[in-house]
Amino acid sequence: MAASRDKYSVLLPTYNERDNLPLIVWLLVRSFEERASFHDSLRPCGNDFEIIVIDDGSPDGTQEIAEQLVKIYGSDKILLRPRAEKLGLGTAYIHGMKHATGNFIIIMDADLSHHPKFIPEFIRKQKEGNFDIVSGTRYKGNGGVHGWDVKRKIISRGANFLTQVLLRPGASDLTGSFRLYRRAVLQKLIERCVSKGYVFQMEMIVRARQLGYSIGEVPISFVDRVYGESKLGGNEIVSFLQGLLTLFATT
Ligand code: GDD
Ligand code: MN
Repeated sequence: MAASRDKYSVLLPTYNERDNLPLIVWLLVRSFEERASFHDSLRPCGNDFEIIVIDDGSPDGTQEIAEQLVKIYGSDKILLRPRAEKLGLGTAYIHGMKHATGNFIIIMDADLSHHPKFIPEFIRKQKEGNFDIVSGTRYKGNGGVHGWDVKRKIISRGANFLTQVLLRPGASDLTGSFRLYRRAVLQKLIERCVSKGYVFQMEMIVRARQLGYSIGEVPISFVDRVYGESKLGGNEIVSFLQGLLTLFATT
């Protein structure tokens, strides 16, 4: 029914993800090529997509793995847009965005914590409400977190709670990073966002509300990584709090 075909650009930031990259890419390709459902005969060939890998000079050789994946899936499907050094998650998205050609952008982690099986649901949700943003949420419906220790759960809940109280953005998962954006919307949000690290996710959704963009939510289960380790350190928590207070003071 759609006049022109939608295209989805997935931004995959990686830092030391060599063990996770082949699997996440395979699952992604499957999720796009599969029909949304058995009865979905209107879309026989799935959705048009590209996967943009933004690797920050990972010492574990993530980029060599990524190059292999380009050979397997093709350079129109897997785009490598690396940077020389670890410059942070927020700017990795901005960098990837510059190279995206889709009219929708999907942002997710590369460590299999975000399962690509939810993407068809994101797409369905977006179409259903013609939303500007669809945000995956761990804190609603069937959503949840698996494999985190109590400390990490408290940090996440605490960050969400503090932000809800201070900024009232009206979305249930503010620090999550599994989201679908209309391209122009993401572009505008990026221009307004000042934070560079993990706090970026939170700022994005807060600014989205301010600008009056519509947000749909899809419950997701977040499963802690099996391979490699989280890059979230104490200094990210400090910069989250700084970012939160800055937003509170300026918005
Ligand atoms: N290019 C690049 N540069 N990628 C990075 C960097 C960086 O500096 N830091 C992290 N990444 C990549 C990782 O390789 C992974 O694909 C993704 O970003 C998320 O990083 P993790 O280190 O696995 O994050 P996490 O599991 O601790 O945190 C998750 O939950 C947070 C709070 O709920 C992520 O979803 C965060 O975005 C989220 O804020
Ligand atoms: Mn992770």
